[in-house]
Amino acid sequence: MDQKRIGIIGAMEEEVARFKEQMTDTVISKRAGMEFIQGMLCGRDTVVVRSGIGKVNAAVCAQILCDVYEVDYIMNTGVAGSLNAEIEIGDIVISEEALQHDMDATGFGYAPGVIPRMETSVFPADPRLVTLAAEACAKANPDIRVFRGRILSGDQFISDKNTKERLAENFRGLCTEMEGGAVAQTAYLNGVPYLILRAISDKADDSASMAYDTFEEMAIRHTVRLVTELLPRL
Ligand code: ADE
Repeated sequence: MDQKRIGIIGAMEEEVARFKEQMTDTVISKRAGMEFIQGMLCGRDTVVVRSGIGKVNAAVCAQILCDVYEVDYIMNTGVAGSLNAEIEIGDIVISEEALQHDMDATGFGYAPGVIPRMETSVFPADPRLVTLAAEACAKANPDIRVFRGRILSGDQFISDKNTKERLAENFRGLCTEMEGGAVAQTAYLNGVPYLILRAISDKADDSASMAYDTFEEMAIRHTVRLVTELLPRL
């Protein structure tokens, strides 16, 4: 059987800890200060890694997955702040595309979020992975709502109403986080299919910091269940 290799990136230890515990036949190596754990997870050849927080860490991590581990897919999993009144804490967002909301060359006349001199700034996720993830989520988390659409990323924890409204209005994203857009751009540059899976930990408004502390663990449980159901389908 043609066994694909899947790279799984989480920014924080708590986002990847459950995967690491479940892995077998592991080989661990370090690059760029990150620990890459290659082995079997849910019957699939995977490389699980904690990238650290933010777009630079995420991009470096994704590039290593491409160059060193020659992964066939990259998945980025973790939590996010909701930008849409319909999307509640605990709900899941599956990326159809991702963009970086803090890219700003408006001084040269570019629209917010546009990366100058690139043919696109909105990076589409792999449609097959999106469909499989939605199916897996319905099975793994039957009581949780699942949304598909645009995910925004920036090197900012969004925790005020005005910034949230500006992002929602300018970019029409469903949620915001701090790595997915960088993973998406790196995947795009390397021609590797990618997917971002995020559970909502907060509403990216003035309540965000407190909500995050309260709901992070519950949100991560939802993504872990989803990934565990998704992997055997790949
Ligand atoms: N990750 C989880 N919540 C977030 C928020 N409000 N802003 C950025 N990243 C997040």
